[in-house]
Amino acid sequence: MSDNQPLTRSVLPTKSLRGEISVPGDKSISHRSIMFGSLAEGTTRVSGFLMGEDNLSTWQAFETMGVNIRQTGPDALEIEGVGLDGLVEPGNVLDCGNSGTTMRLMSGLMAGQNFFSVLTGDKYLRRRPMKRVVTPLAAMGARIWGRDGGERAPLAIQGGSLKPITYASPVASAQVKSAVLLAGLSVDGETRVTEPHLSRDHSERMLTYFGADVLPFAGGVSLTGRPRLMAQDVIVPGDVSSAAFFMVAGLITPGAELTIRNVGINPTRSGIIDILIAMGGQLELLNIREQSGEPVADVLVRHSRLKGIEISGDMVPRAIDEFPVISVAAALAEGTTTIRDAEELRVKETDRIAAMVSELGKLGAQIEARPDGMVITGAEQLNGGKVTSHGDHRIAMSMAVAALCARAEVTIEDTECTETSFPGFWILLDKISGSL
Ligand code: S3P
Repeated sequence: MSDNQPLTRSVLPTKSLRGEISVPGDKSISHRSIMFGSLAEGTTRVSGFLMGEDNLSTWQAFETMGVNIRQTGPDALEIEGVGLDGLVEPGNVLDCGNSGTTMRLMSGLMAGQNFFSVLTGDKYLRRRPMKRVVTPLAAMGARIWGRDGGERAPLAIQGGSLKPITYASPVASAQVKSAVLLAGLSVDGETRVTEPHLSRDHSERMLTYFGADVLPFAGGVSLTGRPRLMAQDVIVPGDVSSAAFFMVAGLITPGAELTIRNVGINPTRSGIIDILIAMGGQLELLNIREQSGEPVADVLVRHSRLKGIEISGDMVPRAIDEFPVISVAAALAEGTTTIRDAEELRVKETDRIAAMVSELGKLGAQIEARPDGMVITGAEQLNGGKVTSHGDHRIAMSMAVAALCARAEVTIEDTECTETSFPGFWILLDKISGSL
């Protein structure tokens, strides 16, 4: 997300939502395709790559470290891997933009490199907690400095040789787990990470796909250091987190029937599908298949009468990026939805609990904040009005979905942030809601 001029958009209530769509590539997998493609030997070809601002930050960072990356189609890349020891010291600060994944995963990688690097980001990223990666990396022997005693970026990293550790992460975070595993690539020996609940496992899957020895065990994962990573062809599936906006849009719009093609359904990410089905949503997975080590399906969505449910525990990391749009579904469901154990939402691109309570509240929703979640009692319809994204792409898109079922027009301020994860969102929304 840039710190550019805010852009305001208006969304009108829709009467229909029908058709077949596809959504852009998975953000998490796209980041990792650049990272592991760069560290591999040979040329990695990526298709379905997400050309969103977050991924372009990762692309730029690896180019700055001497990796040759070519765009070969609208969503296709070729990466000339430099091998595990081939990165060169960046001659400038690496700008991670709005991307927590870029900053946290790269901190792990940079910690094991024999050079100095500095990672910074936009005003939102510079507010987010970084000690969660600095602490385990320091235990491996890394030297990292940041504002607030290493809590906030910019982070300055003097890389060097590290030792393997077993790290018991207090948070279920794929970014923490992946940072430690990326640091573990450079060490002799086995690096182990445990977490309270399983977070997304794209790093483990892609490292295995590139030839590393990654073994899951009860509650965690281990990686054997100094693997030989070999270039691969990577087909990135559509991002289930982007598809989620259209799943909810389809469920809440009377008469809607939508097919979303080519959606990643990795079980560590598909919590949104289970949650919406538990709410009474008619969602069907068709044509289930596997691509580059990741499960994929087409998702058929039909308008449904939703009901409130309780969401907590293991389910939370499986749907961690979807709670803004889940709160929209809950605001239009019969009864009460209670979300617990989701305190991580407070440290995302913005505080997503405070943001959704404030913005859905402006449209008349009955929604209350809890320290670790939200309690939402549904209504037949929301009101029109004026809301803001808080500079957070997922809040902007969730409010656009809410607007489809409002009584009157909803104006959303600060919407340029959708470019971080979903270029083309507004065009697609207009197209299927019949406004184009
Ligand atoms: C991501 C992990 C999640 C998620 C983020 C992407 C990743 O963050 O919210 O959008 O690609 O590893 P946490 O690891 O902080 O939960």
